[in-house]
Amino acid sequence: MQPTREDRFSFGLWTVGWPARDPFGDATRPALDPVESVHRLGELGAWGVTFHDDDVVPFGTPPADRERILARFRRACDEAGVVVPMMTTNLFTHPVFKDGGFTSNDRSVRRFALRKVLANLDLAASLGASTYVFWGGREGAEVDQGKDIRAALDRYREGIDLLAAYVKEQGYGIRFAIEPKPNEPRGDILLPTLGHALAFIAELEHGDIVGVNPEVGHEQMAGLNYTSGIAQALWAGKLFHLDLNGQRGVKYDQDLVFGHGDLINAFSLVDLIENGAPGGGPAYDGPRHFDYKPLRTEDVAGVWDSAAANMRTYLLLKERAAAFRADPEVARALEVSGVADLATPTLGAGESVADLRAADADFDADKAGERGYGYVRLGQLALEHLMGAR
Ligand code: GCO
Ligand code: MN
Ligand code: MN
Repeated sequence: MQPTREDRFSFGLWTVGWPARDPFGDATRPALDPVESVHRLGELGAWGVTFHDDDVVPFGTPPADRERILARFRRACDEAGVVVPMMTTNLFTHPVFKDGGFTSNDRSVRRFALRKVLANLDLAASLGASTYVFWGGREGAEVDQGKDIRAALDRYREGIDLLAAYVKEQGYGIRFAIEPKPNEPRGDILLPTLGHALAFIAELEHGDIVGVNPEVGHEQMAGLNYTSGIAQALWAGKLFHLDLNGQRGVKYDQDLVFGHGDLINAFSLVDLIENGAPGGGPAYDGPRHFDYKPLRTEDVAGVWDSAAANMRTYLLLKERAAAFRADPEVARALEVSGVADLATPTLGAGESVADLRAADADFDADKAGERGYGYVRLGQLALEHLMGAR
């Protein structure tokens, strides 16, 4: 279970680097030097690190210092053999963003937010990142009367389209991934779920390079099934990136270690992305990116233990999913359930509506209604593989 670069595990620097300050209490750990995090993650077997502009170069750093900090960071990545597959912008910490970045009611703030992203896109391109994430944590509202949602979506679209056009003009080869979240820190966030984000992308002029970055906990905060959402994103050709972590039910964003929440859903997720391509094999070949928070109770050693736990859990689930797929009893159960039959189009080739209406004269609805689909058996087999009981 030793992770290797081939597993393509990546971590946000803000995850291990979280000093564990929360709305009720002070930091319980010292701030980590990003250079140390890069080395530690590389030693643990991670392939990549991701970050917000301000995670590496603090907000307001003078240009000369910025270059020095970045040179040191690049050197660390090279020495550690760690890549930067994804970058993103902090449009939520500084008070200027308290009403949002792209959708603040204050136009001067919206213009500042766009400039901040543009500067960081240049850096992302120079570091070789191929994905740029947009998590709009402050793009939202608490008071319905205070935000014209349709105008906010116009401004959101204006911002994303402008940035996407810039990336194309520059030939950066970067794709955007929008990260939905229902709430926190805003009372309600725009693009609250994967479905809202996909609908928004369909309205963009440059939607061809815009996809989604769904996070386990964010969909589960809305009571949704993450695996089935991921399947819809794959179906739409829009799964550009993902954020793996753990969440237990509809409550605040827990950002637990991957698998430390809904483990059954984590199993079906790993099975889908590793084995779910039509005909088998990985359905998703992008980074396996962890966006979690080491518990506030942990010391620095506990931070690295928790980072390793994410990768180990993923690899264990991958092994269990392979065993599930290889089990002949599972194959029989899948057949009883008719899972593969759903891939057959409902109408035959060239069949018309008139043909359909005239067909199946002997179809017996009562008889068809007697069929058992055997889903419980299938679910139990999955559970037993997950538990190592088979
Ligand atoms: C959260 C989000 C963030 C984003 C990150 C990258 O709920 O805090 O998941 O961690 O993923 O800002 O855009
Ligand atoms: Mn989260
Ligand atoms: Mn996230």
